[in-house]
Amino acid sequence: MVESDRSDQLVTHGLSVHFDGVKAVDDVDLEVQRGRITGLIGPNGAGKSTLFNAVSGFVPLTAGRVVLGDKDITGWSPTRISQHGLVRSFQDTRIFKTLTVLENVELGAMNQGLNGAKGRDFAYGILELLNIKHLALESAGNVALGDERRAGIARAVATKPDMLLLDEPAAGLDEDETAELSLTIVDLCRELGCGVLLVEHDMSVIFGVCEWIHVMDSGKTIAVGTPQEIRTNPAVIEAYFGKERS
Ligand SMILES: Nc1ncnc2c1ncn2[C@@H]1O[C@H](COP(=O)(O)OP(=O)(O)O)[C@@H](O)[C@H]1O
Ligand SMILES: [Mg+2]
Repeated sequence: MVESDRSDQLVTHGLSVHFDGVKAVDDVDLEVQRGRITGLIGPNGAGKSTLFNAVSGFVPLTAGRVVLGDKDITGWSPTRISQHGLVRSFQDTRIFKTLTVLENVELGAMNQGLNGAKGRDFAYGILELLNIKHLALESAGNVALGDERRAGIARAVATKPDMLLLDEPAAGLDEDETAELSLTIVDLCRELGCGVLLVEHDMSVIFGVCEWIHVMDSGKTIAVGTPQEIRTNPAVIEAYFGKERS
């Protein structure tokens, strides 16, 4: 893919997803720029996962539009969306446990037409980037959770996305693994020149890696800004950190 074909941003316009009267996401304008890590935070039930699912084609929109680069991708299937450069990870990794770590990543490479030796070399490169090259030939079902997470991200990354959506990548990891994963996410964004949308509970990850943060509460956007702005935003402190403390 030539550089000029790459999508520079992912934008939602008035995105809403309602479930039987529950306004899970309500009129949200989200912007994710390529080359930047954007955090999506908010208390439990804020609508983060639903927004994430809607953007990646897993949940239909009630209203609004999703635009990737110059394409309106509203209503597209998850497969078509991923082929156009927006790829997500899953909280439960959805890794193929009977395949090796390498084979899982090769599947990602195949997605963008890299087969055989080329695909294998490329997959090894991605494993190196994620610091799990030594696990290449292990069965994916046998590796530790932190490594399984990395393998899941590696598979997503192997498709060379313009936008990478990560859903709570640090969930279940210990402090050291979390710190290491944070560094990896920064490296990935830099090396691949992709945009990252990061949903994460762990505020050390969010404030450690994000240049831009979008905050939701009860389906709505309550703040958007730099980490410094978000830290000191009274609405965020009330909605998010207030509830966290109670
Ligand atoms: N499939 C669904 N059917 C009905 N309600 C749902 C569904 N998915 C999510 N919700 C509701 O939508 C709201 C937002 O949920 P979610 O997007 O999971 O929030 P978050 O990821 O921020 O914790 C919650 O009130 C949740 O109960
Ligand atoms: Mg969620």
